[in-house]
Amino acid sequence: MKKIGVLTSGGDAPGMNAAIRAVVRTAVYKGMQVYGIRRGFNGLINGEISQMDVTSVGEILHRGGTILNTARSDQFKTEEGMKKAINILKVFGIEGLVVIGGDGSFRGARELSERGFPTVGIPGTIDNDIACTEQSIGFDTAINTVLDAINKIRDTVSSHERTNIIEVMGRSAGDIAIYTGMAGGAEGILIPEMPLDIDNLCKRIIEGRNRGKTSSIIILAEGAGKAMEMERIIEEKTGMETRATVLGYIQRGGSPSAADIILASRMGYHAVELLEKNIGNRIVSIRGNKIVDDDIMEALSLPRSFNQELYNLAQVLSI
Ligand code: F6P
Repeated sequence: MKKIGVLTSGGDAPGMNAAIRAVVRTAVYKGMQVYGIRRGFNGLINGEISQMDVTSVGEILHRGGTILNTARSDQFKTEEGMKKAINILKVFGIEGLVVIGGDGSFRGARELSERGFPTVGIPGTIDNDIACTEQSIGFDTAINTVLDAINKIRDTVSSHERTNIIEVMGRSAGDIAIYTGMAGGAEGILIPEMPLDIDNLCKRIIEGRNRGKTSSIIILAEGAGKAMEMERIIEEKTGMETRATVLGYIQRGGSPSAADIILASRMGYHAVELLEKNIGNRIVSIRGNKIVDDDIMEALSLPRSFNQELYNLAQVLSI
């Protein structure tokens, strides 16, 4: 393969730029031409494509977001959109594509692969909800951003002797909540993977106060409920002053952590190596600190599990 394309799709994640840089520089190193596609699959359909070189990815390593921009494309999900996309790729002479994104983006990548267009997916999402990989690009940065926020909120919560419900992102996965709840010493972690036992949670908050605890922080995954609603219920049941914080998009921004930059760079390199050998229809992953790849179809049908051990440990340590 001599001409490849790269796009970012779905929610942006810190480290996506490092992945783009790795794809572009690896391709150039291997004597391939590489094209950047703007605005995800929408941009592909509209032909927003231009050639990239080593300088077009200079000084982006430390920047959050994605220099290629991103979108969630409804048009691409249609037969007509798909045909247009493949046609555009042919017009530009692009022989293989790297898609950096999450679950939804990989469904697009699978469709292209099924139609005979070699596509490789790189998991970039703060949610860490891709079953085949132990970590997705952006997750490490996001949990550090959330931890910083939790620590700041802790100062004011303990000064006022309150409870604070902090709602974090993650779509239908509880990973951000589990990891940050653990690292932030949260008194409760509510995730969609576990049944919600509000009475037990309130009992724990009251017992904590009776032992002299000055603050309680409850981390709520967005897939498990709404912070404002939880604030009302917990205040009612505990009789203690309770506040809610929805962290929102702050979790998706900021400079990527060293771990995310390194992960993105390794994955980007691996994706180009695959396309160089004319191998498509793969998703790049990290397992046991090794960069590996799996068939897209198989990877997408894997059941997602969550880190139950870490969740249990957090429960034990937060009494
Ligand atoms: O997938 C990343 C994510 O930030 C989720 O955690 C969140 O549910 C969603 O994207 C928000 O999407 P949007 O940017 O479309 O509001």
